[in-house]
Amino acid sequence: MEEVIKIVGKTKLCGEVKISGSKNATVALIPAAILASGPVTICGVPNISDVESLSILLREIGVEVIKKADDHIIIDPTNMKNIPLDHPSVSKLRASYYFMGALLGKYKEVKMKMPGGCYLGPRPIDLHLKGFEALGATVEYEKGYYVIKAEELIGNKVFLDISSVGATINIMMAAVHATGRTIIENAAKEPEIIDVSSLLNKMGAKIRGAGTNIITIDGVKDLGGCFHEIIPDRIEAGTFIIMAAAAAKEMTIKNIIPQHLESLLSKLQEMDVDMDIDVDCVTIRGNENLKPIDLKTLPYPGFATDLQQPLTTLLTQAIGDSKVIDTIYPERFKNCNELQRMGADIDVTQGSSVVKGKTDLYGQRVTATDLRCGAALVIAGLIAEGTTEIHEIYHIDRGYDDLDGKLKKLGANITREMVD
Ligand code: EPU
Repeated sequence: MEEVIKIVGKTKLCGEVKISGSKNATVALIPAAILASGPVTICGVPNISDVESLSILLREIGVEVIKKADDHIIIDPTNMKNIPLDHPSVSKLRASYYFMGALLGKYKEVKMKMPGGCYLGPRPIDLHLKGFEALGATVEYEKGYYVIKAEELIGNKVFLDISSVGATINIMMAAVHATGRTIIENAAKEPEIIDVSSLLNKMGAKIRGAGTNIITIDGVKDLGGCFHEIIPDRIEAGTFIIMAAAAAKEMTIKNIIPQHLESLLSKLQEMDVDMDIDVDCVTIRGNENLKPIDLKTLPYPGFATDLQQPLTTLLTQAIGDSKVIDTIYPERFKNCNELQRMGADIDVTQGSSVVKGKTDLYGQRVTATDLRCGAALVIAGLIAEGTTEIHEIYHIDRGYDDLDGKLKKLGANITREMVD
């Protein structure tokens, strides 16, 4: 038996939706919290299975995790112990790599299995490891475990060949207790990095420059507990904005930071999507006559790779050919096979696609091959004629907080069912 999502398409969405806290910030903030000597309260935590997996890992190493109210968690590392991380949850999510930086920073030693996550083509962590080495650590990979340790971590200059989100955050976490100053050059500038740096600074760290391409970390001895509220999820917001453009009469997406979504909103304007942008919300009205666009994913503030697949679904409804290039993950096109089975006309070559619109979509049995492919298929299901049945929805549950519940409130005909 498998749980699937079923969507009967063509009902127009209408109403308001509130965006949850950022998944990609949360999955870094939770490991970062173990650098404190006392309890850290984080609020705005999304209800997603990646948080469950991280909580399991925290408990494995003796960290107390208390779920308060709906979206608060208290992480208390007072009785934590540095044992090897080999629980199956390590390989369930990519973000388990943040335990490398956090545990190395705290104990100067970490032993853990290979991190997992969505398959989007090769996802190396060489830059994370090079960063740890620059701080004086040795890295060994033996019998399926990374063993990373240092006598002493010493601040250094680290230049990232690629501005990697994960490497930037991981090196920042390893460096907070290092002796002296660490400078990360060509750092990634994603809003999630600013969020992690502000949590660490509230704990007592001395980090400057997060959000720019040069981050300076002056090592400190102790970090204490604090309270932190997570930024809204710009990718969940983007997903609902695209859904609204595809299938809404009128929808207001609340609790957003529009500046985090500029690259998406400007592309949608280019497509002639009808929208009103306010300080913390955006209202979208569906339009039958969308224009095609050319799209290239880039590191922030460029167009987010995580929104490339959801937007591809909308491009099937634009009148004319759109060209999509993913420079971050050239293999992130598995959604196109599924969309084609629903009636889309898309040519995929390595790292790019041409989406030929406008095509009608028809309900099908499809598979969410990864998290954002899942979101792309939900959007397709909303547009399609008939019933779409989405399999492997655990990918969706890893990163979207109550996606089907929120859609139901907007009027979608969406259900979960157990099937053989
Ligand atoms: N890269 C390397 N070596 C490294 C690290 C990265 O070559 O050591 C390459 C990657 O292969 C990729 C590029 O650098 O081509 C950028 O990767 P990055 O490290 O920035 O990605 P990440 O930190 O592993 C995060 C998000 C992803 C999101 C990317 C890009 C988390 C947990 N994940 O991954 O989110 O796509 O940044 O913005 O924060 C998702 O939410 O669906 C998702 C996959």
